[in-house]
Amino acid sequence: MPEMQTTSTITQLRKIISTARKVEGKIGFVPTMGALHQGHISLVHEARKHCDYVVVSIFVNPMQFGPNEDFHRYPRPLQDDLKLCLDAGVDLVFHPTVEEMYPAGFATSVEVNGLTDHLCGKSRPGHFKGVTTVVMKLFGQVQPDLAFFGQKDAQQALVIRKMATDLDLPLGIVICPTLREKDGLAMSSRNRYLSSEERSNAPAIYEALCQIESEIRSKKHSSCIPYREELLARLRSIPGAVVDYAEIVDAGSLEFTPEMRGEKLVAVAIRLGTTRLIDNILVNTSA
Ligand code: PAF
Repeated sequence: MPEMQTTSTITQLRKIISTARKVEGKIGFVPTMGALHQGHISLVHEARKHCDYVVVSIFVNPMQFGPNEDFHRYPRPLQDDLKLCLDAGVDLVFHPTVEEMYPAGFATSVEVNGLTDHLCGKSRPGHFKGVTTVVMKLFGQVQPDLAFFGQKDAQQALVIRKMATDLDLPLGIVICPTLREKDGLAMSSRNRYLSSEERSNAPAIYEALCQIESEIRSKKHSSCIPYREELLARLRSIPGAVVDYAEIVDAGSLEFTPEMRGEKLVAVAIRLGTTRLIDNILVNTSA
């Protein structure tokens, strides 16, 4: 097995991948914005299980950040990321510049309607258009057989899967479980923004989700609404938390319907200080 390769140009990426496709076989792809943690590495391990050659992209995509969001302060520890990729057995890391991805005159975007009207789509206008545009470009560049995404970004994974289906992309989308710290906090590159006080309060987000899950399982109510109210109350009681949303929606369409029927996604977005954190759980209400 040759050493891990890295490139920041699309031309070289294509050359390396066309050889890999012939010599190695099935290409697995893990798109990231870097600041890698064990959640990303679990996607790499999953890709290794299913594919012969694993590509990771590291690109902080300006198009998916709103004007007042954290694009400029988003962590970019490239050397640490490369080391993690090497240790995880990645074959190729693609880390393009903004100019390489969006040269002057770039004028195309890809948008998925419907699914993006809910949850983060409501509170981050334009975010998913930025995600689908960059992921579509990356898919065109890497041409993977399988691409791996985390369940922590549940809406993103559904939106990308819908894009791949609607545009007949010849690849599979694999959604992998959320990785958590020992205290339950979902792993995220943004966790490193948290002050020590915020970090100690953050596990209460997952605790609130687990409480609601056990209440849903006890079938106390036939409507989502009281569960949602209780979830909101629990989240609002976290010191310093500002709730962006707390929703119980259909796990496939992300639509709100009050009946507790089928599989539900319980999804939340919270601000702790200047950091926005998201988390979710899936609950099968008929189980
Ligand atoms: O989940 C992320 O890190 C990003 O949204 C992605 C999929 C790499 C696109 O920039």
